[in-house]
Amino acid sequence: MLLQVLGTAAGGGLPQWNCACPGCTGARAHPERRRRHASLAVRVGERRWYVVNATPDIGEQIEGATELHPGPGARQTPVAGVVLTDAELDHTLGIARLREARDGVDVVGTSPVLDAVRERLGLDAVLGPYTPVRWRELPGGAGRPLDGESGITVSAVPLSAKKPRYAANSPDSSGYWSVALRLHDSGTGRTLLYAPALAVWSDAFDEAAHDADCVFVDGTFWDDEEPLRSGFSTRTATGMGHLPITGPGGSADRLARLPGRCLYTHLNNTNPLGDPHAEQHKLLTERGIEVAAERMVIEL
Ligand code: MLT
Ligand code: MN
Ligand code: ZN
Repeated sequence: MLLQVLGTAAGGGLPQWNCACPGCTGARAHPERRRRHASLAVRVGERRWYVVNATPDIGEQIEGATELHPGPGARQTPVAGVVLTDAELDHTLGIARLREARDGVDVVGTSPVLDAVRERLGLDAVLGPYTPVRWRELPGGAGRPLDGESGITVSAVPLSAKKPRYAANSPDSSGYWSVALRLHDSGTGRTLLYAPALAVWSDAFDEAAHDADCVFVDGTFWDDEEPLRSGFSTRTATGMGHLPITGPGGSADRLARLPGRCLYTHLNNTNPLGDPHAEQHKLLTERGIEVAAERMVIEL
């Protein structure tokens, strides 16, 4: 399985357009610190890729990855579709940017997530006149083939019932609002687990994480108080549905016990890890945990 990291930041990106926090100011001064919204491309065949989460940066993210460039025919794209982990705006607004797709686009997501983007965001009615969107349900359990004969299956590991604010009054309260994606390649036997929003380290997630060869995990906040301390929120990290990296029950201790390769993604602009010189990196290095880098390529 070939993976191309397209972005590693939480909502807003790094820097965020209206933010002058130390992290965003640092990224303006040091362009190598810039991070686009968290996303990943997965190869499913010869010049055929799916993008995990469609961010507001998707156009630039495709431009930044030569494997995703169009051709040889005019308007012929290797981007076959999108797989969603949740319906949050930072993971779904990019679907609208794919409206030029000549042959339409597949959007794979769990049923509450597809309902939210189709009906609440209105993307079904809005995109219909531009391009055919094929909405495909993402199941739990054994999952479904991601793309024809690729040998890659995708399934959802339910994580939490946290809904995007624009869908707060939805009657659905299943754990399929926010899921981890489990991508399994039957050709190599390798498994990727991708969880950019992890509210709780559940037993089911722990089991899936132990089975995976590579795990991308929610690295939004370094500690639980970070959003309060930075002054941009009245909620803790946990209160916002993001298990912090450190502190009681933090994800770093859990990741250190996993057999596979572990990387943090979805870093908020307040996260000290955005500064490559921050002392916090030492704690992760000691535990064998990585911070996903922009445009990194992983061959699983
Ligand atoms: C999140 O990661 O919690 C969401 O993206 C928050 C938001 O954008 O409102
Ligand atoms: Mn987010
Ligand atoms: Zn900022």
